Amino acid sequence: MNSGIVTAAYIVAAILFILSLAGLSKQETAGRGNLFGMVGMGIAIIATILGRDVSSYGLLIVMMLIGGAIGAYLSSRVEMTQMPELVAILHSFVGLAAVLVGFASYLDPDNNLVGTAHTIHSVEVYLGILIGALTFTGSVVAWGKLNGKIGSAPLMLPHRHLLNAGIGVVCLIILFIFLGAGKGFGATLLVIMTLLAFAFGIHMVMAIGGADMPVVISMLNSYSGWAAAATGFMLSNDLLIVTGALVGSSGAILSYIMCRAMNRKFFSVIMGGFGTPSGVASAADGEQGEAVAISADEVAQLVGDASEVVIVPGYGMAVAHAQHPVSELTKQLRDKGVNVRFAIHPVAGRMPGHMNVLLAEANVPYDIVLEMDEINDELGDVDVVIVIGANDIVNPSALDDPGSPIAGMPVLEVWKADTVIVSKRGMATGYAGVENPLFFRENTRMLFGDAKDSVNEILKAV
Ligand code: TAP
Repeated sequence: MNSGIVTAAYIVAAILFILSLAGLSKQETAGRGNLFGMVGMGIAIIATILGRDVSSYGLLIVMMLIGGAIGAYLSSRVEMTQMPELVAILHSFVGLAAVLVGFASYLDPDNNLVGTAHTIHSVEVYLGILIGALTFTGSVVAWGKLNGKIGSAPLMLPHRHLLNAGIGVVCLIILFIFLGAGKGFGATLLVIMTLLAFAFGIHMVMAIGGADMPVVISMLNSYSGWAAAATGFMLSNDLLIVTGALVGSSGAILSYIMCRAMNRKFFSVIMGGFGTPSGVASAADGEQGEAVAISADEVAQLVGDASEVVIVPGYGMAVAHAQHPVSELTKQLRDKGVNVRFAIHPVAGRMPGHMNVLLAEANVPYDIVLEMDEINDELGDVDVVIVIGANDIVNPSALDDPGSPIAGMPVLEVWKADTVIVSKRGMATGYAGVENPLFFRENTRMLFGDAKDSVNEILKAV
């Protein structure tokens, strides 16, 4: 394919990626956004394969078939609740690819650049490998923390900030030596820097506690974008630069939004040490009083008599696959004239937009699904709030216990409603591992059991 056509295809793909991001910003247009992204990626792959840089088609096709088959198999098996883990491990592939492309590009015998062009290329290679390597190990650790293979407690090494700064300074010094080195010694320096960046990535994410993981995922998303952009510079591939920059900047914006939602400063998230999942002394720990249970029939009675009902979904709704009965309950109550709305916390579940996706899948009308900021002030006027498998996002100690690991995180103030029903299996804590005093409040009733079974029982009684 001639290079003019390839460039034109790249421009079309880049525009489709931008339209995709725009589409993904609203629930109503998210499906279309996904479609734009898929078509754009299809065009990008075909244009790249048919471009002048590709010659060994046999090898390429075999690798694409193997990679495609593994990807299709894994994604068809992944549960919605395991999505963040999948995303984390995919980021690690982007990072590893950047490292490998960096070494290949540096050792390429056809690379005869001299003077300024050589220096610029060397810096691109160095930065690409650096960002790729820390994204790789950081993402693998994030994957381990999300699926519980690695404990979510932050690793607090003595002088950890000094250690991080030390690695940064050493990498900078190696860069200057690398720029003046010949190929053999240069490759050795690259290997040393790669090992340091691997260690940095591990340490960076190990130091971040469970409660900050949402931000870490979007931060690694951003890093993987910058790693891809650096690879684009190395390969002089404009589309990879544009796509990497789009992913890098949208991940950075998402990290900022998540930090704001959790009332955290981005810098202090990166510095780590927050979100201890266990063993933290807080006023919420210890004897709390008694939680009062309620039956599904009684809940049906309560919501049937109510005029304002708000449903707060959380991670447990996703685990129980309760979104369809929840949608059916909503429909029946609305048919009876009850005003039912949903309150969505920005970090409910395990990934950004997790609850919105589930509710959309179950055909809950978009206009009754409200963000935390839109509904929090109105919760005092609500008759019944039903919390379905949510915990941390409705924990009052975030507001009134400065010693709590989630202190300062904005939460849905459900306790202001006349009655709060909490549907969960037992008294277990949520992701952040913090006790929840909501369960012991006077106006709270616990509906014990799997969320899907409980909602089905309420449905039957309604
Ligand atoms: P969590 O605080 O994790 O609480 C979920 C609750 O669901 C648990 O207490 C559990 O209690 C209950 N549950 C589990 N399985 C259930 C089932 N089958 N039926 C009924 N209940 C069930 O969830 P949340 O309130 O949605 O808060 C999200 C947390 O995850 C926050 O701490 C957030 O920072 C973190 N996080 C969020 C993200 C993003 S981006 N959203 C990413 C990573 C981490 P029982 O075991 O007693 O049933």
